[in-house]
Amino acid sequence: MESPWDFTSLDRLADRLWNELTLAVEDVSHPWRTPVLATNGVDGPSARLVVLRSVIPAKREWVAFSDSRASKLSEVLADGASSWVFYDSLLQVQLRARAHVTAHLADPPSAAAWAHVPARNRIHYRRRVPPGEPIHSPADGWSVDEDAEANFGLLVAHVESLDLLALNPTGHIRAQFRWCDASSGSGWTGQWVAP
Ligand SMILES: Cc1cc2nc3c(=O)[nH]c(=O)nc-3n(C[C@H](O)[C@H](O)[C@H](O)COP(=O)(O)O)c2cc1C
Repeated sequence: MESPWDFTSLDRLADRLWNELTLAVEDVSHPWRTPVLATNGVDGPSARLVVLRSVIPAKREWVAFSDSRASKLSEVLADGASSWVFYDSLLQVQLRARAHVTAHLADPPSAAAWAHVPARNRIHYRRRVPPGEPIHSPADGWSVDEDAEANFGLLVAHVESLDLLALNPTGHIRAQFRWCDASSGSGWTGQWVAP
């Protein structure tokens, strides 16, 4: 399918990327709502799906939630470097990002986010057995008796660069954007690159 994206301007493309990410938060069927987050694990690269919970284009930030006892939390506390992949399989558009992730646990930002977590989702943070712990059978992992808020963690990604690839029947298109903090003004500096 020919991509409906406008590839005539790098500036408009950068705006469109952030608009699309913002839409993905609200639209549960949006393919960019569940990106892959890759971190530096103790045994090497470590990647998993997360849900995109909020996006603030003006701060070049997005947010995901995690159990505070999960591996990804200790990984970003040790090293905030991260890589993210979003993929729209219908339009065949891939977005990759590099970001510095800050973890928030039992602090004002995590408390503010927790206040908006619906009751039906809070149960995920009440599991007695921490994520990744060995158990005898799957049901052993379902018991809930923990203080949910104490197990809630916020991952705030501060985006440093973006790399978009759109597969097109008429020719693939790739663009890279890097945040530029020049004294004359700051913004996304883009360039077309070979796919
Ligand atoms: C569709 C989907 C969405 C997920 N969303 C989240 C999420 O938002 N936060 C999260 O911590 N784990 C989420 N998970 C589970 C993670 O992919 C992962 O299995 C779990 O968090 C443990 O990862 P870790 O041990 O690397 O921390 C999701 C899994 C799937 C399949």
